[in-house]
Amino acid sequence: MIQTLATVIRNEVIAPGYGRAALACGEGFARARPGQFVMLGFPEAIDPLLRRPFSIHRLVAGGSAGPGIEVLYKVVGHATRRLSRVAPGEPLSLLGPLGRGFQVPSGVKRLFCVAGGFGVAPFVFLAEWLQGRPSAPAAIELFLGGRGREDLLCTADFERLGIPVHLTTDDGSCGDQCRVTDPFAAALARERPDLVLACGPRAMLACVLGIVRAQRIACQLSIEAMMACGMGACLGCAVEGRRDPSRFLHACVDGPVFDAEEIDLE
Ligand SMILES: Cc1cc2nc3c(=O)[nH]c(=O)nc-3n(C[C@H](O)[C@H](O)[C@H](O)COP(=O)(O)OP(=O)(O)OC[C@H]3O[C@@H](n4cnc5c(N)ncnc54)[C@H](O)[C@@H]3O)c2cc1C
Ligand code: FES
Repeated sequence: MIQTLATVIRNEVIAPGYGRAALACGEGFARARPGQFVMLGFPEAIDPLLRRPFSIHRLVAGGSAGPGIEVLYKVVGHATRRLSRVAPGEPLSLLGPLGRGFQVPSGVKRLFCVAGGFGVAPFVFLAEWLQGRPSAPAAIELFLGGRGREDLLCTADFERLGIPVHLTTDDGSCGDQCRVTDPFAAALARERPDLVLACGPRAMLACVLGIVRAQRIACQLSIEAMMACGMGACLGCAVEGRRDPSRFLHACVDGPVFDAEEIDLE
């Protein structure tokens, strides 16, 4: 785990209410794995005092600023509003890579990914990371849902990587007007994947969990929890374990990616 001052390389609006920031933070982050996250904050800031968790969206190769990472963010509150205003050259306090990421074993031939809103962030990293690996699944499909058209992010990245994307919106402004779990369930009925990965709002994850458990399909879920420290010290991100409910798991160190057998989401 590295604690460093990262330098903002660029920070751009990618859709109304969403931004993407590239940060130069040294070679250490090249060890990061898809599904891991960072804690990002403002040096010497009193407000917001605490760093905030963000998935690693992709690795940035060494340009003139050196290697680093990108994060994709939705502006929801104080820290993300301030993040949306940082300019190239400004420093950000960065801790990472943190947590357990997705595991795609070499035997997986067909992989389905299900994402809601900014839950798509780690799947760009995953798709780029799997590209060209001999053990990568032969077929990857993404099911991506959002409230409206502006919440369907990164579709061009998946197109570039040759990954089919099934789009859904709640308001019907883009793709099918339904829940993202509808085309996912329909696709499962046609062709069974070896593994399902999901990242998004808790209600979406709970629905995915119900579907994969009923069909006994291997699945990993990236869950969101309130995180103050990101490294197992504050115990603020406790999640009840399924195997042993008396033992709490912690999303920052035991997750944020959990095997579907490890947790319940009710
Ligand atoms: C492992 C992990 C990965 C994440 N990855 C991303 C990402 O890639 N992109 C992204 O935009 N966001 C991501 N988030 C959520 C992000 O951390 C929060 O949106 C951010 O902390 C909000 O900070 P804020 O000060 O802007 O908002 P606040 O003022 O702190 O909160 C605004 C609203 O968001 C809610 N909120 C704040 N933090 C969380 C949280 N962790 N989970 C659920 N609700 C929260 C609050 O309850 C409140 O309603 C991730 C969270 C976790 C735990
Ligand atoms: S965020 Fe502090 S223990 Fe997980």
